[in-house]
Amino acid sequence: MTQGGAARRTVLGAAALAAGGGLAGLSAGPASAAEAGRGGGFRDLPVPTVIGHRGASGYRPEHTLGSYRLALDLGADVVEQDLVPTRDGHLVCRHENEIGGTTDVADHPRFASRRTTKSVDGVAVTGWFTEDFTLAELKTLRAKERIPAVRQRNTLYDGRWEVPTFEEVLRWAEDEGRRRGKRVWLHAETKHPTYFRSLGLGLEEPLARLLRRYGRDGRNGAVFLQSFEPSSIQRLARLVSAPRVVLLSAANTRPWDFEQAKDPRTVADLVTPAGLKWIAGFAQGIGPTLDLVIPRDAQGRLGTPTTLVKDAHARGLLLHPYTARNENSFLPAEYRKGTDPAAYGDAFAALRTYFEQGIDGIFTDNPDTGLLAAEAFRPGRRPVSP
Ligand code: G3P
Ligand code: CA
Repeated sequence: MTQGGAARRTVLGAAALAAGGGLAGLSAGPASAAEAGRGGGFRDLPVPTVIGHRGASGYRPEHTLGSYRLALDLGADVVEQDLVPTRDGHLVCRHENEIGGTTDVADHPRFASRRTTKSVDGVAVTGWFTEDFTLAELKTLRAKERIPAVRQRNTLYDGRWEVPTFEEVLRWAEDEGRRRGKRVWLHAETKHPTYFRSLGLGLEEPLARLLRRYGRDGRNGAVFLQSFEPSSIQRLARLVSAPRVVLLSAANTRPWDFEQAKDPRTVADLVTPAGLKWIAGFAQGIGPTLDLVIPRDAQGRLGTPTTLVKDAHARGLLLHPYTARNENSFLPAEYRKGTDPAAYGDAFAALRTYFEQGIDGIFTDNPDTGLLAAEAFRPGRRPVSP
């Protein structure tokens, strides 16, 4: 089995964990976050890095402290947050600004009149939007499972957790870092940054302020910053030194900031050697959809791998593709088992195929599955499972 680029990175392993154990006695507060960030940058993370996508969203309602905590319990190296603003400018963790799908807002009669239709990045969306709620109002809501038809078991936790602010997550990460004796890495994404800036709710400045306040604005601050809009990453590069990842959607799409700026380039242009060289001027990595690494055919089966991994690595860019999930409905066709879309397929085989390409990490809804698959590719580690 080839291990591609996975073998070219240092793995901290047990020694690093032991070094992190000294954090337990640190005092509380933002200053201790800087301390917790000591001990290495993103190049020192285990590779392939397992990134808990929206936490452990395969098992808990996404973007809740319960989902984030479980991601760590299951061994995720990094925990992801998607960020959108409230009307009063607080950054909260939601995958999109429309919250009808992931909260109980529809059950609150006082907010019924807030339901509306908006154009978000050129798409008409109907529902309730974070930018129409103050943080105090948003805090009266509770999170729920996004895809109950596929993840019925997760509905057990509906109503259990609030929508967290990013500041609460930063504090939580400090507490968890002290408790576990290991700093907690985050991977924060600016969602719809051009759209929100047009509303006077720019995301990057408050994000940078929070990162500074909690000692995570430097190169070794244990946080990645990510966005589908390159201009958001460029803006962040002017504000903080945290490592940055440009997300890349399907090849025929165009980032919304490009659309607005009349920049004709598509994702297909950005994954060329010239496009990757341009990205490497302001980012340390890319986060491509897995289909840009191995395209799927019309039947959903994997085809021939592209040269994206090799090309990105040649320009010093790491790759954090998205998103691995255990259920048949998300897996490539050859790894599905049976016909139930909610049943698990052969997720380990799928992950092995992607890791063999030499990717540096992966966003996954199932961090435990991701970790078991990743261990076989981590130099010096004995796989826990075959
Ligand atoms: O940010 C990586 C991955 O999460 C991108 O897709 O839509 O789930 O945010 P999305
Ligand atoms: Ca994301």
